[in-house]
Amino acid sequence: MNAAADPRWREAGEVRIGIVGLGTILGQYLDTFDRAAGARVVAVADLDPVRTAEVAARTGARPLTAAELMADGEVDVVLNLTVPAAHAEIAQAAVAAGKPVYGEKPLTATGEQAHQLLGAAESTGVRLGGAPDTVLGTGVQTARAVIDAGTIGTPVAANATFAAPGHERWHPNPDFYYLPGGGPLMAWARTT
Ligand SMILES: NC(=O)c1ccc[n+]([C@@H]2O[C@H](COP(=O)([O-])OP(=O)(O)OC[C@H]3O[C@@H](n4cnc5c(N)ncnc54)[C@H](O)[C@@H]3O)[C@@H](O)[C@H]2O)c1
Repeated sequence: MNAAADPRWREAGEVRIGIVGLGTILGQYLDTFDRAAGARVVAVADLDPVRTAEVAARTGARPLTAAELMADGEVDVVLNLTVPAAHAEIAQAAVAAGKPVYGEKPLTATGEQAHQLLGAAESTGVRLGGAPDTVLGTGVQTARAVIDAGTIGTPVAANATFAAPGHERWHPNPDFYYLPGGGPLMAWARTT
């Protein structure tokens, strides 16, 4: 997502954000926006209307439904913080509305949904962005640079291990982590 590429943002001097999904991760984004000049949350939506009203009151944004937010002329970009099972639906709605969308991980719950979403974005020219931005950090970028430079030859296999005591130890509503597409590893239907 490149705010500078859109003339509406250059004129306004700010990016007007509409957030769909107002759960646990929301606070980290609001803290960041508080420190980011030019980022303003103008609309919020959640399946839970009480939560929507509470966040709207706290942020000064307007409480809307997701459908209303997609159609809202003040919203420049959609931030998709819903659960993984809803990522594709919300992102596709944003793309259909012509609004750039940045989503929490995973991009979608299945590989097929991801290919459909990327196809829709490409054909309409709408920009997509997604977490985690940690892939742009020193560790992953150094590993990539070493591989690209041929320093370790041609990799023939990779091994990764993830261990955690369980999201129920800290998350108030962890069910989505155990549903298809909600975990850290995904079985992709395509390998290219
Ligand atoms: N919590 C974290 O620390 C964390 C960290 C990294 C990534 N994430 C990712 O962020 C996303 C959200 O995580 P969370 O912990 O905030 O989840 P959460 O369950 O606390 O909140 C999700 C919110 O989305 C709403 N929602 C679900 N479907 C919706 C729909 N169709 N329309 C509107 N609202 C809808 C739910 O009502 C809920 O309020 C997940 O994809 C997760 O993988 C979370």
